Amino acid sequence: MTKSVRKPRGVLITGNWKMNHGPGAARNFFAALPASVMNSGLRAAVYVPDVSLVAAREAAAAHGQAAVRVGAQNVHWEKSGAFTGEISGPMLAELGISAALVGHSERRQYFGETDTTARKRTESLLAQGIEVVLCVGETREERESGRTNEVLKRQLVAVLGENGADATHPARAYLDGRLVIAYEPVWAIGTGLTATPEQAQEAHAFIRSLLTQVAGASAASKTSVLYGGSVTPQNVDQLLACADIDGALVGGASLKPESFHALLTAGAKALA
Ligand code: PGA
Repeated sequence: MTKSVRKPRGVLITGNWKMNHGPGAARNFFAALPASVMNSGLRAAVYVPDVSLVAAREAAAAHGQAAVRVGAQNVHWEKSGAFTGEISGPMLAELGISAALVGHSERRQYFGETDTTARKRTESLLAQGIEVVLCVGETREERESGRTNEVLKRQLVAVLGENGADATHPARAYLDGRLVIAYEPVWAIGTGLTATPEQAQEAHAFIRSLLTQVAGASAASKTSVLYGGSVTPQNVDQLLACADIDGALVGGASLKPESFHALLTAGAKALA
């Protein structure tokens, strides 16, 4: 990982395609993604629909963009079984895919994901060698009633355990870069309402202090915390300038190659 004085954890720019871009569109995306800025040491990933995993990975490699990792958006914690509609870690491994999102707010909102299922997925996938981006964030109502920190704490402690009480909590061992946290305020997702850099930095600093409490300063200093919620090429510079923002998880603005490239360029610039 390339580090800089300003960005001690490097910079990670990630795209969440959600239910967009089948295999054909995934191929077109990488064919049109301008020559990479990845040699700057920037890290990047796209989380794509399961049916597009192979096409995206192959197209990325074919167009010299293999450094953009391809990952899944949701994976079951069991390795196989009677779970209609789900996919598992070993299935991803068979495709050479080793990255996944866990607990995205749309999974929580529309598909019954809870703190408990987010914990099960995180623990199981990390143990299987899959790098996880765990998504957390408050709703508008929770923010307006002053409960942002309480919600973030509940979501993180559910996965990482309480301060000192259960020091052997399995997911903690992965707070060395393999487990990434994404702070995504629900009210900012897909709404065009980005958190201001001050609001985002405040939440990120809180998450960093919580990581320090539960897992120690060294783990907290190695763990990337991404911001997500209406990130665009226009606002990404200001967000990346914040001390505790180590990158971005981007939905809408990751779908077009030009726009994703602009985000990658901003990430590389933040590293320099
Ligand atoms: P958005 O989505 O950038 O379209 O707001 C972010 C996300 O849901 O990860």
